[in-house]
Parts: sequence; C-alpha cells; structure tokens
Amino acid sequence: MNGKRITLIIGGGIAAYKSCELVRLLRKAGHQVRCVLTKSGAQFVTPLSLAALSEDKVYTELFDLKDEVEMGHIQLSRQADLLVVAPATADLMARMAAGMADDLATTLLLATDKPVLIAPAMNVRMWAHPATQRNVATLKRDGVHVLEPDEGPMACGEFGPGRLPEPNDILAAIEALLADTPKPLMGKHVLVTAGPTHEPIDPVRYVANRSSGKQGYAIAAALAELGAQVTLVSGPVVLPTPSGVTRINVETAVEMQAAVNAALPVDAAIMVAAVADWRFPAADQKIKKQDGEPPLLQPSENPDILAGLCQSPQRPRLVIGFAAETEKVIDHATAKRARKGCDWIVANDVSGDVMGGDRNTVHIVTASDVESLDEADKGDVARLIAQRIADALA
Ligand code: C5P
Repeated sequence: MNGKRITLIIGGGIAAYKSCELVRLLRKAGHQVRCVLTKSGAQFVTPLSLAALSEDKVYTELFDLKDEVEMGHIQLSRQADLLVVAPATADLMARMAAGMADDLATTLLLATDKPVLIAPAMNVRMWAHPATQRNVATLKRDGVHVLEPDEGPMACGEFGPGRLPEPNDILAAIEALLADTPKPLMGKHVLVTAGPTHEPIDPVRYVANRSSGKQGYAIAAALAELGAQVTLVSGPVVLPTPSGVTRINVETAVEMQAAVNAALPVDAAIMVAAVADWRFPAADQKIKKQDGEPPLLQPSENPDILAGLCQSPQRPRLVIGFAAETEKVIDHATAKRARKGCDWIVANDVSGDVMGGDRNTVHIVTASDVESLDEADKGDVARLIAQRIADALA
C-alpha cells in the first residue's frame, strides 16, 4: 500500500501508551502520522514522545494561534486520508456522539469529511454501560468505523471487553480501511433478515423465540465491509446497527415480509431471521385471567418469507436460508433447501447455547456440496459466509 496520511487522535486512558507503538508501526509501514493529543491524553503520553516517533509536530490546543497560522484546524482534519481515535475513551465517544466541538480533537472529528476509525478502550463496566453502548450505536449510524475492544485482564484489575486491541491489529484495521483494492461486493445490494419476530396475542403480550440477532447482524456487517449496500430487516433485538448498514425495524412476520418485498430488487438475500411459524388474532384489550380457563389461542400460519421470495418474479440471483436444527443437521438442511427452493442453506446446530451465544458451528449446504466450518466466533463465521457470497456473485 502506498503511504497514507493518518491523523491519530489520542484520548486519555491508560491504553494511550499503546498509541506510541501504533505510531511507530504506521511510520514503519510508510504512512505519514500527525498526532493530536487530548488534554487528558497528554496526562498519559507526552507530546515529545509522539513528536519523536511521528517525526512531526504534535497538536494539542484548539486555540493555539500559531497552529492556526501554520495550519487551520479545518485543514488539519481534511489533510488526512483517515482519522483514527485510539484510545477512544467513553468521554471522547460521548462528545463525538453528541456532536460537540469543545477541544481540538472533537472539532477535527466534527469538521472532517474523511473516514473515521475509533478504537474504544475503557473499564469493562464503562464499556457495558447503556450510555456508552448508545453512543457506540450512534457513532456507527453516523458512519464511524468502530474497532471492537478486546476482552481480557484490564489495568484496573477487572476482566472483560474494554481493552485496546494490540497496535498490530489496529494497523491491520487501518490498512483494511485504506486499501486501494476495490471491494468485491461494491455495487451489489444485499438483503439480510435477522432476529426473532414477535407475534402479539393482546396489547401487552406476544409469542417470541430466543434468537438474539447476533449472527444476522454479523453477516450484515461482514457484507458491508466487503463493500455491499446492505438492507437489514430486523426483528426486535438489542444490538447496534453495523456501520454502513440500512436497518428497517419490524415486529411481526407479516411486517417482515412486507419490508423484504419493499427492499427488492436485490442481488442476494440472506434470511437469518428466526421467523415465528404462527401468528394469533391479537385481542384488542388485555386478555383477562378467567377462573381455570386458559385462553384459546387460535394460531394461523405465517407466510414463509424465504419460500415466497424464491417464487417471486423478483427472485434475487442468490437466495440463502438458515436452518436451526437440533439433530440430523445436514439431512434436515438438505431437505429444507429443496423444499424452500433456495440456493444454499446455512445449517447450524442449535442444540447447545448457540442462540444468544457468541459462537456458532455451521454447514453450508448447496445443490452440489456441503461445506462444514469449524466452530468459530459468529463474526468469523459471518466473514466467511460473506466471502462465499462475494465469490458466488463475482
Ligand atoms: O422452516 P424453517 O423456519 O426451519 O426455515 C428457516 C429459514 O426460513 C430461515 O432462513 C428463515 O429466515 C426462513 N423463514 C422465513 N419465513 C418463515 C419461516 C422461516 O423466511 N415464516
């Protein structure tokens, strides 16, 4: 890769020491690095170390007139190919998500028209706090690329997600974002369904299932990383929208089918949602407890969205279904592929804690072949499936 210009914003956290190594690696890889230190970042690393490693001036103050004469803050944010925030603290992310510009770092981030990559690092509880998760979701919606923190022992003595990824991994993420090679799914529109559906029985109750949406969301994210335009039709889940993905929220199977049809035409559809088989005539008022008499729920069959899509005149070139099975996984998946009329079935064994968990073991069943993947993180499974989709659409 040709040398790129990177503006590295360093927030105030103990992980800031790793940013020195990141600067060294970036320079070694031939990139130009311009460092911006926040006030609290300067408590952890000194401008002198960063200036020596980056072989450039280090910027700290918004109201430094000398800097404004040499280079205004707008130019500083635009004369870069990429802005990287590492470590991104909870406070810095909150200010970014709120659109504040109360120091040099946030002003650059608000003024830039270049891609932004953030690598959050903080105490595990700060990371898990709903406020931080809300901010991460907002930033992703704003198009910010978020490198998920690593899990492990922390400087504060706790254990969990929140560690800054190793400088080598941050370098790899930077280079992937700046890669000159065209992405394989560029120009392709892909539809993904994910999550459960909720089928109401009255205004306060519904029938649902344990799908977390994690695998479908990971697939949507992996497809977007390969350059696809992704429409994600999602049942009710508590997950942030992946960067660069258009999300349409639905509740019931009938709503999901309508959203799927409205998204057509697409080049490929991956139906990961755990759609309820049945719906119920929902009572207008809350069903009252009646002595010893449980209410009679008269189910009617939901539309099979996947099978319907396969028969549609607007059938995408590639249609992929998912099969959650607890036994004879491949046999059932093979039969399901034929029955539904889709091109592939991705079969997963859900007899363990796959639903809601972070790992998955899948088999890709096509008309001519079964590819069994090793058990892996749902993100890795997603990247592999996305690559297979890219190969198929090439
Ligand atoms: O029939 P079964 O529910 O096992 O099929 C699973 C596959 O079919 C998944 O891809 C799921 O998203 C899709 N499906 C659907 N509409 C339904 C039921 C399942 O699209 N009503």
